[in-house]
Amino acid sequence: MNITFLGHAGFQFSLTGGTNLVVDPYITPNDKASDIDVDSLKADFILLTHGHGDHVADAERIANRQGSTIISNFEIVSWYEEKGIEGHGMNHGGSYDFDFGRVKCVVAHHSSVLPDGTYGGNPCGFVIMTTDKKFYIAGDTALTMDMKLIPMLCGQLDFVILPLGSNFTMDYTEAIKAAEFLECDDVIGCHFDTFEPIMIDREKVKDAFDEAGLKLILPEIGEKIQR
Ligand code: NI
Ligand code: MN
Repeated sequence: MNITFLGHAGFQFSLTGGTNLVVDPYITPNDKASDIDVDSLKADFILLTHGHGDHVADAERIANRQGSTIISNFEIVSWYEEKGIEGHGMNHGGSYDFDFGRVKCVVAHHSSVLPDGTYGGNPCGFVIMTTDKKFYIAGDTALTMDMKLIPMLCGQLDFVILPLGSNFTMDYTEAIKAAEFLECDDVIGCHFDTFEPIMIDREKVKDAFDEAGLKLILPEIGEKIQR
């Protein structure tokens, strides 16, 4: 599959089967992502990990343009349904078989409120299981022992996407621990360098992953990753 980093915690996945997924689009408010053309992003589905603005900013715009279905927790999906956008609500522990593969909604330790103050339900992560790849998108979260359940319940992951900028989420030392809990050595980092409290020292972070025997990509905005 083809993965494009959209900045912050945003990714687009062009699955081998032809389905396009967008996760947590925060593009138009992000000056650093001005090279991403939000209106040309293909999205059959938009997955939202929680309701914070730095994750949902462009979801409505993309959904209206692409006719996308939003996959998120029940409360966030209900909020979008009131705007006339289709959705599929889930909650922690639940899985659902979509045409493109199975999605499992898993625990994230964070908070969640929508931009207008509406209750945003529980923040979550997603495990996406397609015919060719199995991967975990952590969303915004602290390190949690619950991550150990993921390989136990879902089997071997091909790669994981972890936040590591600290302040709002776990930091890179805890992301290393998360990769161990997840039993996966192929990590794509996110939620760093977007704004002041989450700036990282890329070399220091890469060295720490190297020393732990883990592969880490700290993508540039717009960077394409093959998996
Ligand atoms: Ni957040
Ligand atoms: Mn965030």
